[in-house]
Amino acid sequence: MEKILNYIDSKKDEHLAQLIEFLKFPSISSDSNYINGMKDCANWLVEQIKSIGFKNVGTRKNVATIKQDDGTIIEREGHPIVYGEWLEAGPDAKTILVYGHYDVQPVDPINLWHSKPFEPEIRDGRLYGRGTADDKGQLFCHIKSLEAYMKVYGKLPVNVKLLFEGEEEAESSLDEFIAKNQDLLKCDYVVISDTEWFAEGVPSICYGLRGIAYVEVKVTGQNRDLHSGTFGGAVDNPLQVLAWMITQLKDKYGRVTVPEFYDDVVPLTEEERKEFAKLPFDDEEYRKDLEVGALSGEIGYTTLERVWCRPSLDVHGIIGGYTGEGAKTVISTTASAKISTRLVPHQNPEKISRDLANYLRKIAPPTVKVEVTELHYGSPVLLDMKGKGITAAIDALKEAFGKEVVFMREGGSIPIVSVFKEVLKAPSVLMGLGLPKDNIHSPNESLKLENFFGGIRASALFFNNMK
Ligand code: BES
Ligand code: MN
Ligand code: MN
Repeated sequence: MEKILNYIDSKKDEHLAQLIEFLKFPSISSDSNYINGMKDCANWLVEQIKSIGFKNVGTRKNVATIKQDDGTIIEREGHPIVYGEWLEAGPDAKTILVYGHYDVQPVDPINLWHSKPFEPEIRDGRLYGRGTADDKGQLFCHIKSLEAYMKVYGKLPVNVKLLFEGEEEAESSLDEFIAKNQDLLKCDYVVISDTEWFAEGVPSICYGLRGIAYVEVKVTGQNRDLHSGTFGGAVDNPLQVLAWMITQLKDKYGRVTVPEFYDDVVPLTEEERKEFAKLPFDDEEYRKDLEVGALSGEIGYTTLERVWCRPSLDVHGIIGGYTGEGAKTVISTTASAKISTRLVPHQNPEKISRDLANYLRKIAPPTVKVEVTELHYGSPVLLDMKGKGITAAIDALKEAFGKEVVFMREGGSIPIVSVFKEVLKAPSVLMGLGLPKDNIHSPNESLKLENFFGGIRASALFFNNMK
């Protein structure tokens, strides 16, 4: 191990320079203008993986089947999946699948960035740029640790399969690829570095992720835009109807009002509540950091419990009416909103989005027509906190960073984790390397360099611990 770790430490400049190359590809999966950025990025990853001596390396086509409202099925080709494997550790050795995503979030609002999102810059021990923490920087740690083994010993301590997708941030079709390629992807454990630590200096293993159900609701009133002087007072205003409907989705106790919403929620155990209470978390500090007057949420739960273990509902955008300069007196024909719910075990995302859609239709007044489109789903997961994979990750983080490791849950979602569990029957280990201050999905996303370099070491130790 010593040799490997020394090798890794001697290559810091090279690792950083290569990560910067990786970050320069504008791989925004949700925007079709970046299709070339996606392809070039996938091909660059392929070359990286080939160069360290992996076999069967290449991009794989990902074809998603989409069932339309009328029952017909159409096919959509997704962004390339990058795959590679090294299986020469023998049949008795464990097989580890490394998952990550090379796609990134859009960069807007662009004017708030202090340096260009795809021209990474180092400031104060951090590397700034889109994708630094989510997830290019984190997944790259694994590639570099595997490279170190191949360069130093010409072999790995375990069998390794690499699976990097380009659709995690958009509508992923990786689940269909996994269902069709179960033999190819067969493994004992999945390791994923795409989460963050509880706090700086507190390495963490995440054992729970929330799921997600996302809908778009469109409210349509009269057949044309109207003069609000001639018609105001005679018809309902679709914008105001939508605004009212949105306010009906939560009650004054911060609870979601959709019928049956909480029916399947697994209650928090007393033991878990006690464990969370031990973590160094301060509501007042959290409030100050966000500069809000007060925190808000479901009554009866602490902040950590609310974001980790309780479902929530948020509106992401409201579209409609006149938003240009000056005054225009119009009653718009339509208004729409994007709404999602974060889900916890054992809520079913498909049922929840159906229930939410039905509830929106039900509460709408007869003055408007309501259409709801269900955008995407991801199942929540709770992972086993025992087993070789978890122990290997704890020991690896502890040794790489010289700090005690804590267990935590996470309010965000990595939808594919439940597919690994259900379809591949493989437990996932969430060995995150990010920090709460990384600003993922926001302007000025960054990765602490210490976590990047330490992450490569942690990854190397993890593979060795899995021997
Ligand atoms: N890496 C994140 C998930 C995450 C967020 C982990 C915060 C730890 C802390 C992932 O890339 C992500 O953004 N997931 C999306 C999924 C959605 C688009 C289906 C999310 O949570 O919004
Ligand atoms: Mn991510
Ligand atoms: Mn993300």
